[in-house]
Amino acid sequence: MKRNISLLGLQWGDEGKGKVVDNLAKDLDAAVRYQGGHNAGHTLIVNGKKIVFHLLPSAICHENIKCFIGRGVVVSLDALFSEIKEAEEVLGEIKGRLRISSACSLIQPYHIQLDQLREQSNNLTKIGTTGRGIGTSYEDRVGRRSIRIADLYNEEKLRDKLYQALEFYNSIFKNSFGAPQIDLQELLDKNLKQAEDLKPYVGNVIEEIRELQDQDKKILFEGAQGALLDISLGTYPYVTSSNLIGGVSSGVGISPSDIDYTIGITKAYTTRVGEGPFPTELFDEMGTYLAEKGGEVGATTGRPRRCGWLDGFLLNNMVKVSGVNGLCLTKIDVLDGLEKIKICTDYSSAQTKEAIIETMDIEDAVPLYLELDGWSEPTAGKTDYDDLNANAKAFIEKIEEISGVPVIMISTGPKREDTIIRKKI
Ligand code: IMP
Repeated sequence: MKRNISLLGLQWGDEGKGKVVDNLAKDLDAAVRYQGGHNAGHTLIVNGKKIVFHLLPSAICHENIKCFIGRGVVVSLDALFSEIKEAEEVLGEIKGRLRISSACSLIQPYHIQLDQLREQSNNLTKIGTTGRGIGTSYEDRVGRRSIRIADLYNEEKLRDKLYQALEFYNSIFKNSFGAPQIDLQELLDKNLKQAEDLKPYVGNVIEEIRELQDQDKKILFEGAQGALLDISLGTYPYVTSSNLIGGVSSGVGISPSDIDYTIGITKAYTTRVGEGPFPTELFDEMGTYLAEKGGEVGATTGRPRRCGWLDGFLLNNMVKVSGVNGLCLTKIDVLDGLEKIKICTDYSSAQTKEAIIETMDIEDAVPLYLELDGWSEPTAGKTDYDDLNANAKAFIEKIEEISGVPVIMISTGPKREDTIIRKKI
């Protein structure tokens, strides 16, 4: 029995993790977020109402699951409270089963302001961030000047840290951008007020997780975004600012050897939001078709997602670096009815393959494709692998061959039931 399960998107995010969590939920006792912030977006339909989760683990909508936000997450209290309010309208009170680490770094308004100013600047590399102060908050964390949740409960220390932060940020706003200044007292008052509201949720996550582990409870560690956006192993600099791969350990406070099973998620094709190279991107009517049929619009920013064929070269590499044991393949039904389907298996590039894997610089990579026959009989809504058309099976088996790991779950539509489980973990 696998008890500590890690769930990781293997592309540039938006692989459909919410759906997978939903399917695992009945067997889970706890779910934990360990990196990122409210840049993530999981859209779920609960009791007929649409909720988009950004910061809360999407498993929160199952009332038997205890949810945690680990120390690796950067927390915007504005976002947290508005999300709790929205969730409680549908789910009822969640206070008793949401615990946030006192070691989380906060996202302050100056982080958001600087993130947006940089993105709007014509002189700096545009990353296409979500503009939510994620990277700028992590910069403070690495720079050892973060305001952490625990600091909210020591007014003198909080004032001092906010003063130091505003000395720095206000000077950048004024001198580099001619942007408005942030007032210390106003910000301090807001932090103190939010600190009170936050108190019931703050806890010692490490200890609580250890207790659950001692009781042999089943815990899901939910990665946000996707492995290609990993700050270290992703397509730098067009990445987010956290470690998705291997981030569970440092982002929660458990041992790397605690993870019993890692599920990797990939769509049957590829999407990306934001800037950055995307070798298999389609600019023709096929790209538009995938975007429309797949409903590919960013859950956080509403930006249209760029679409392209599945990139097996990157998939194989991400499976290897993140220790994925089994794959979940989502949105295969979007490919229903296509005459031919392509999978990129390799790149042609001036660089060696090894150099690409090392730097993840895929700027000049030209994809080499394997072309497979499509299937006319739809996979949509199928729940049994044996009911799939032979060509759909051949596509799935090709993905297993390319990635080197079994496809254990296939999502064949947006509904919870539209799922094929090939291996129960
Ligand atoms: P940041 O995380 O806001 O700093 O944005 C950095 C990059 O990550 C941008 O390309 C964003 O579009 C992308 N990104 C961040 N969060 C998500 C997500 O949940 N899904 C897809 N892309 C994301």
